[in-house]
Order: sequence, then structure tokens, then C-alpha cells
Amino acid sequence: MSESEPRVALVTGGAKGIGAGISVRLISDGWRVVIADRDRASVPGARSMVCDVGNEAQVAALVRSVSETERRLDGLVCNAGFMIRKRIADLTLAEWTSVLTTNLTSTFLLVRAAESLLRERNGSVVTIASTRARMSEPDTESYAASKGGLVALTHALSISLGPDVRVNCISPGWIFTKGPTPTEEEHAFHPAGRVGRVEDIAPWRHSC
Ligand SMILES: NC(=O)c1ccc[n+]([C@@H]2O[C@H](COP(=O)([O-])OP(=O)(O)OC[C@H]3O[C@@H](n4cnc5c(N)ncnc54)[C@H](O)[C@@H]3O)[C@@H](O)[C@H]2O)c1
Repeated sequence: MSESEPRVALVTGGAKGIGAGISVRLISDGWRVVIADRDRASVPGARSMVCDVGNEAQVAALVRSVSETERRLDGLVCNAGFMIRKRIADLTLAEWTSVLTTNLTSTFLLVRAAESLLRERNGSVVTIASTRARMSEPDTESYAASKGGLVALTHALSISLGPDVRVNCISPGWIFTKGPTPTEEEHAFHPAGRVGRVEDIAPWRHSC
């Protein structure tokens, strides 16, 4: 493998939102990007693989495909995640488990499967947690627990895999990716004077 070959990143949950924004940025920087998402991704220039990142067999097949097709892995972005907002009295065990599996266990599955590929390239892992790991809204117990666990998992991995493989976490506040457009009042709550944008996470060249 020549050193001039492009670096390869695997971005989970990249079909839309923050993951799509990270993928666009990496592609514009010359990386080859594989997007793993429950939904087929249509980010120009990325290879899309449909994968439930909480499913052990699907994660194993995903990493095998990267190994066989791209033949290297320089960056792993563990971004896929979702929230269930429900009173704890109404939250079922299946719902709790589904949030923990997608938001937390997936990073364990992905890093375990990809460790040797990442070590070969002195690669890097970035997890996407949330300010909700430390600062909650009502009725978001499963999400808060998953993101708190992800922060802890990130530092454990950084100690176990470093310095050869670096493992870091981004904990965004509110990034507008879906739902009603933020109001002026909601923008004003934020010290930056506005709600975050996808391109704040991995700044796009044209906005730097
Ligand atoms: N948007 C925010 O305000 C915000 C703030 C802090 C943290 N985050 C975190 O950032 C990440 C991305 O958030 P977003 O707002 O872009 O979300 P989004 O809903 O716009 O996109 C999430 C993507 O993940 C995919 N996905 C969900 N579960 C999956 C699974 N099991 N397997 C594979 N793909 C799956 C979805 O199909 C979707 O394409 C999440 O982990 C979220 O918790 C978001």
C-alpha cells in the first residue's frame, strides 16, 4: 500500500445529520469514506453500507467489507445514535435496551472488530456523545445513560489503545438536524448566540 493512497474513514449514522456533515468534510479533505447506516446513504463520493451498528454480526460483516474493499482503516467515527423521550414509568426495557445498544454497545462492537485494522494505520476513533451525558432534560434517562457510558467508554479505550490508536470524544450541545426550526429565544439561550449547525462539528472548508 502506498503512502499516497487516500486515508479511509468509516462513519456510522452518516446517511444524514451530523454524520453526513462529517462525511462531506472528510471527502472534501481527500479521504475515502464508508458510511454505515440503517438507511442507505447518498452522500456524493461515499460508499454506503446498510448496517445496524448494534448488531454484532452486521458490524463484523461491515468491518470485513472495509478490510477487503478499502484494505485499510485510518478513522472510525462512532456517530449513530438516537433518543427516546418518554416518562420512565412508560419506558419499556426493550426501548431502554435499544437506546443503549445503538448509542453505546455499538462503539464496543465497532472498535473490537476494527482494532487490528486501526492499529495497522495508527488510526483514530472519534465518538459522538452529547452534553446530555452531564446535563439532562426530563424523560431522557436512556439517552443520558448511553452518552455518559460513551464518555466513559471513550476514555477507557483511549487508555487501552493509545498511543498507537487515539480515541477521542466530541460532546455536542444542540445541533439543528431535524425538527422545528429553532426560535430566536432558543438561539439566544446559547452562549454562541445560536443553535449549532452540522458544519460546526467537522467544519466544512467553505465555512472555515
Ligand atoms: N443533533 C443534536 O443536537 C445532537 C446533540 C448531541 C449529540 N448528538 C449525537 O450526534 C449523533 C448524530 O445525531 P444527528 O442529530 O445527526 O441524528 P440524525 O437522526 O439526524 O442521524 C442519525 C443517523 O444515525 C442512523 N442510525 C440510528 N440508529 C442506527 C443504528 N442502530 N445503526 C445504524 N445507523 C443508525 C440514522 O439512520 C441516521 O441516519 C447521535 O449520536 C446523537 O446522539 C446530536
